[in-house]
Amino acid sequence: MRPETLKTRIFLDGGNPDETEQILGLLGFLDGQTTNPTLISKNPEARKRFDSGEKFSKEEILDFYRNVVTKISTLIPKGSISIEVYAVPTTTAPEMLKQGREMFSWIPNAHVKFPTATEGLKAATVAVKEGLRVNMTLCFTQEQAAAVYAATRGAKKGDIFVSPFIGRLDDKGENGMDVIARIIEMYRKGDGHVEVLTASVRKIDHLLCALKAGSDIVTAPFEVLKAWGEKGLPVPGPDYVYDSKGLKEVPYREIDLSKDWQQYDISHDLTVAGMERFSKDWDSLIK
Ligand code: G3P
Repeated sequence: MRPETLKTRIFLDGGNPDETEQILGLLGFLDGQTTNPTLISKNPEARKRFDSGEKFSKEEILDFYRNVVTKISTLIPKGSISIEVYAVPTTTAPEMLKQGREMFSWIPNAHVKFPTATEGLKAATVAVKEGLRVNMTLCFTQEQAAAVYAATRGAKKGDIFVSPFIGRLDDKGENGMDVIARIIEMYRKGDGHVEVLTASVRKIDHLLCALKAGSDIVTAPFEVLKAWGEKGLPVPGPDYVYDSKGLKEVPYREIDLSKDWQQYDISHDLTVAGMERFSKDWDSLIK
């Protein structure tokens, strides 16, 4: 059962509908799910096929992805299911849009994930005008989140998510949780049309800290949600203190949200590395 004091929506980060079912059983609720090419490549059926040496054609892998999200959508019909476009750093906005439109038609509750890079943002500006719901992924900075805000201005609350990847910032020695707090603080000055979706959660403390920070949504992998469920779904109170274990603080920056999205510095090496990693995992499944 959802704790009364829980304000944040809880998503599962994964590509296996069996996990969705288990987490639903364990928590008694689930508000949505995020998927990505790496998570789909880890799906047990995809692994089985891969291990037997039988790979997918490009059409088959998309059918496979569509089947997976369709199953998940049936399990969480009122939630949001994020589906990610295939993008290497050179993929153009029209290419991403074409995929995004198709993916959006797969299920009634899709959010399409585009990378928070120039072409991804370009695609998002058009997608939003066409009424697609969008989740801007691979976000690592406050400035990238400002660009997401600016590129999607006019969209309705609930239709746009930004996904800062905290675990990958931690991996580089920066305190990922700071970035969540900074983006939330910056967005307080805006109109609230972008929701913060804390992603790349690796441990229960990431989840707890995101709840305390007031993240709109947290997506967490199976093991983290399982551990949270087994602890009785704790929601941190005012006394909760997150131990960043010596990670470097990321300071708040004063950023004007009223500029055009092209005016923000959105480059980040982890965004590029993230696209490379997702596409490599996806490609590994294809003949
Ligand atoms: O939610 C995004 C996530 O799947 C990436 O997580 O652990 O690979 O950084 P991770």
